[in-house]
Amino acid sequence: MNEFLDGKAVVVTGAARGLGEAFAVHAAQAGAAVVVNDVDADLAERTARNIRAHGGRAVASGHSVADPEQAKAIVDLCVAEFGSIEGLVNNAGLNYETVSWQDDPGRVRELIETNVLGTIYTGMAAAQAMIEHGKGGSIVNISSGASLGQRKLASYAASKGAVASLTYSWALDMEEVGIRVNAVCPLAHTRMVWKSERSLRNCPPDRTPSRIAPLVLFLLGDGAHGITGQLIRCNGPQLHIVGQPYLKSPILERQVWDSDSVQRAFDEVFGAHLEPYGLEKRVPPRLRKWTEGASTPLRSA
Ligand SMILES: NC(=O)c1ccc[n+]([C@@H]2O[C@H](COP(=O)([O-])OP(=O)(O)OC[C@H]3O[C@@H](n4cnc5c(N)ncnc54)[C@H](O)[C@@H]3O)[C@@H](O)[C@H]2O)c1
Repeated sequence: MNEFLDGKAVVVTGAARGLGEAFAVHAAQAGAAVVVNDVDADLAERTARNIRAHGGRAVASGHSVADPEQAKAIVDLCVAEFGSIEGLVNNAGLNYETVSWQDDPGRVRELIETNVLGTIYTGMAAAQAMIEHGKGGSIVNISSGASLGQRKLASYAASKGAVASLTYSWALDMEEVGIRVNAVCPLAHTRMVWKSERSLRNCPPDRTPSRIAPLVLFLLGDGAHGITGQLIRCNGPQLHIVGQPYLKSPILERQVWDSDSVQRAFDEVFGAHLEPYGLEKRVPPRLRKWTEGASTPLRSA
């Protein structure tokens, strides 16, 4: 057994199945005591039992991260059972595909309450407990490549974009109290992928959740000392950092921007600086005359 998380107590939310289950099982194999949280309480208990049957330490929690009191109860359970909390994997999440203008307000609310508020509530409770214990810790938020923008996933993409922003802000806030905060954009064959034909096309069956677990364990462990505020993507074979949004030059300045000067800025300057957008890197319509069609002079040049 690899024991590089020995002595650490870790909460994994949404850990009854899929990626969360893999993170919990691998963390326990690496020596961590684990709270296996999931609203699917029976399955969470099964995962915890499975860990214990293999000699690991685990306790199940059926709380919902979407409720601030229950989110705190998950962290309290970790401290009550194992004496402290050194790691949190904010993994619980929901998704669904729909055309944006046909999205349902009730589903949007449930998704945001789980993916965004659940991450915030559990992270706040964990950070408070880590600070009280005085030894710092590591928070790993689970974001998504969808945060860059993806068709038919607008609310989900927005929720994962929020998780990325949260990660940068928490990393800034929490450095002084010794808590590192990073985010992972995974791709793995889970229930979430089975639901979508497009995701299934992009995710061969050999992309198992276990292939993402080593990255999450690394970020939880002391070997990641000095690494915080990063968004890291792993889709199985590929591992890379996701670049941060930035203020792009040229930055034009004048006392007041009226409609005419904004129009001129776009016609004369920004036209050449527009960005491809979304995960698919779609070229803005205004630039397509330069990029589309094999017969255009620029392409063949
Ligand atoms: N599978 C992928 O390729 C992929 C890609 C990018 C991001 N993600 C993210 O990874 C995370 C895990 O996803 P997965 O693919 O394993 O999906 P999954 O549906 O298999 O697992 C998600 C788990 O979260 C639990 N959950 C939902 N709401 C909860 C709540 N309020 N409180 C506690 N638990 C709750 C569910 O019961 C489920 O067991 C999610 O945040 C997802 O958005 C997955």
